[in-house]
Amino acid sequence: MTAHHDAPDDLVGCVVVAAGSGTRLGAAVPKAFVPLGGVTLLEHAVARVRTSGAVGHVVAVVPDELHARAVELLPGTTVVTGGADRSASVAAGLQALPDRCAVVLVHDAARCLAPPELVAQVVEATRRLGAVVPGLPLVDTVKRVDAAGRVLDTPDRAGLRAVQTPQGFDRALLERAHEAGRGSSVTDDAGLVERLGEPVHVVPGHPLALKITTADDLGRAAQLLADADAPAARMGS
Ligand code: CTP
Ligand code: MG
Repeated sequence: MTAHHDAPDDLVGCVVVAAGSGTRLGAAVPKAFVPLGGVTLLEHAVARVRTSGAVGHVVAVVPDELHARAVELLPGTTVVTGGADRSASVAAGLQALPDRCAVVLVHDAARCLAPPELVAQVVEATRRLGAVVPGLPLVDTVKRVDAAGRVLDTPDRAGLRAVQTPQGFDRALLERAHEAGRGSSVTDDAGLVERLGEPVHVVPGHPLALKITTADDLGRAAQLLADADAPAARMGS
């Protein structure tokens, strides 16, 4: 048993990475600052992390030119400037977390509707397992192909998961993984931990933790948000 199993919420931190430019979305402002239902994606993401009740400290990692704006939008949240790629932004966020945070979640602001229950489940599982990613079974059949598009094989879908964030880690493990993986092309934090040969577990993900990448995704998220608000609106009428 290691210390993180007993960590109270105050010892749990979350780095919300929001320093990307959102090239594929193509909005006038960086993606995390695009509004959805009148509130930025970054605010949606941070609000859900806080509502989980499972996280004591939140660090938002943002583009340099939006630092002051983020401080305004997110009272009580530490705001730092990100780096050239996602992993540099995660590293900047980790450095800004108080030393006492022994468990850390890493979350994409682009997955802004990831629900509080998912956040709490990832924290709980991380305490037991040390490194956790939420994932969903694939609905489509998947083909592996070569550069010419010729099919190499069809992996068994039952053994595959599409992974999401928040991902949860024993902090010391994640810092070791980032240190060892600096400069590598691995895109997610769990991938860096895997490269150390340390176990990573997949726990059930959530459809609302979809990542907003394109304008279509933003439209889909707007619909999901409207659907989620609908029961309360009906009760009020
Ligand atoms: N991210 C970051 N710092 C970077 C690049 C990405 O903090 N240098 C964050 C994004 O803000 C996002 C998450 O990592 O919340 C996932 O990245 P992605 O969806 O690729 O966002 P962008 O890089 O902004 O979008 P694009 O790749 O289309 O430019
Ligand atoms: Mg990107």
